[in-house]
Amino acid sequence: MRLVLLGPPGAGKGTQAKLLVEHYGIPQLSTGDMLREAVAAETPVGLKAKAVMSTGNLVSDEIVNAIVSDRIDKPDCANGFILDGFPRTLQQADALAAMLEEKGIGLDCVVELAVNDDQLVERVSGRFTCASCGEGYHDVFKKPKVADTCDRCGGHEFKRRADDNAETMRNRLQAYYKETSPLIGYYYAKGLLKRVDGMGEIGVVHEAVRAILDSE
Ligand code: AP5
Ligand code: MG
Repeated sequence: MRLVLLGPPGAGKGTQAKLLVEHYGIPQLSTGDMLREAVAAETPVGLKAKAVMSTGNLVSDEIVNAIVSDRIDKPDCANGFILDGFPRTLQQADALAAMLEEKGIGLDCVVELAVNDDQLVERVSGRFTCASCGEGYHDVFKKPKVADTCDRCGGHEFKRRADDNAETMRNRLQAYYKETSPLIGYYYAKGLLKRVDGMGEIGVVHEAVRAILDSE
């Protein structure tokens, strides 16, 4: 299964992708995670991306397309993948279509997670992740079962993202509405778009996404 998760910052793309990885056994390809790894490792791509990401703007199509093209060539993508945060511009969507066409494959589905802006800001401002295994949490909506202890790996260190602040979030939302939301029409026209109400609880949204994917 080859799937795109589309939605604004904080919509739950990463959260839902991880649940789908567990269920379907195909990898999550998050361009945000890959770029943050490049920033942390101070690679040439990371050095270019760092300043852009800290303002909430989009990294260049050229950089992101190259990262994804390399990644989908890896053997673990042979049976499918879940794209989280890519494509994010019409140019990226066309580049993805060309990459897949070259391999003689295509997308099966694009799931749009619809969440209102107030809820997005609340989700992003309460987000934190385990520093060891990357499990995602929220101050209100998804607390670790035992305080300060990761449910998954037992780690005690957590981190927050540098771009999860009010000003950067405003820019990220603007970038979404300006650059990424046109993809809703783009994929609708191709008959691939499925819209899911992302306002429900994490498990409820997961069931709704699964129901769509299992009926494909
Ligand atoms: P990226 O890392 O992709 O960030 P984003 O799109 O802003 O999305 P988020 O990761 O913030 O949100 P999410 O939808 O994954 O939500 P999550 O599941 O964590 O990109 C970061 C930056 O990298 C960009 O700004 C850009 O600069 C660059 N970049 C990345 N890709 C690029 C591309 N293709 N082109 C150009 N530049 C690119 O959930 C959020 C919180 O809410 C969590 O705490 C979670 O626990 C909680 N939560 C989730 N679901 C629910 C629910 N249903 N109910 C209650 N709480 C929930
Ligand atoms: Mg994410």
